[in-house]
Amino acid sequence: MIGNLNHIAIVVPDLSDASNLYRDQFGADVSDEIDLPDHGVTTVFVNLPNTKIELLHPLGDDSPIARFLENNPDGGMHHLCYEVRNIDAAVEALTLSGMRVLGDGKPKIGAHDKPVVFLHPKDGLGTLIELEQV
Ligand code: CO
Repeated sequence: MIGNLNHIAIVVPDLSDASNLYRDQFGADVSDEIDLPDHGVTTVFVNLPNTKIELLHPLGDDSPIARFLENNPDGGMHHLCYEVRNIDAAVEALTLSGMRVLGDGKPKIGAHDKPVVFLHPKDGLGTLIELEQV
């Protein structure tokens, strides 16, 4: 069902510091900061040869990652994103097998303008998992 690892998302307390780490110390290809007000985050993409790292920082008053940063003030890994070909079929199969999809269970348009869902971390070995249709 799942295909490539699309990205690993890391919540960071300071995007500029995080960008500098990946650009200047790790020598990676790092994007500019991109505000996504609909998602309550500012993102920076680190483009690696085989996947991406998504650096996330809260944007606005009710950012979905604000509490994560409160609980993890140094930042931390937030989720993994796996690619699927058909997100509706994936959601149907996974919910039939007992996995919980967050929110209303319906795919939403994610940060890359593609349909995404998030699976409950308790059903994913303690890891928040995003599925993105590609
Ligand atoms: Co993501």
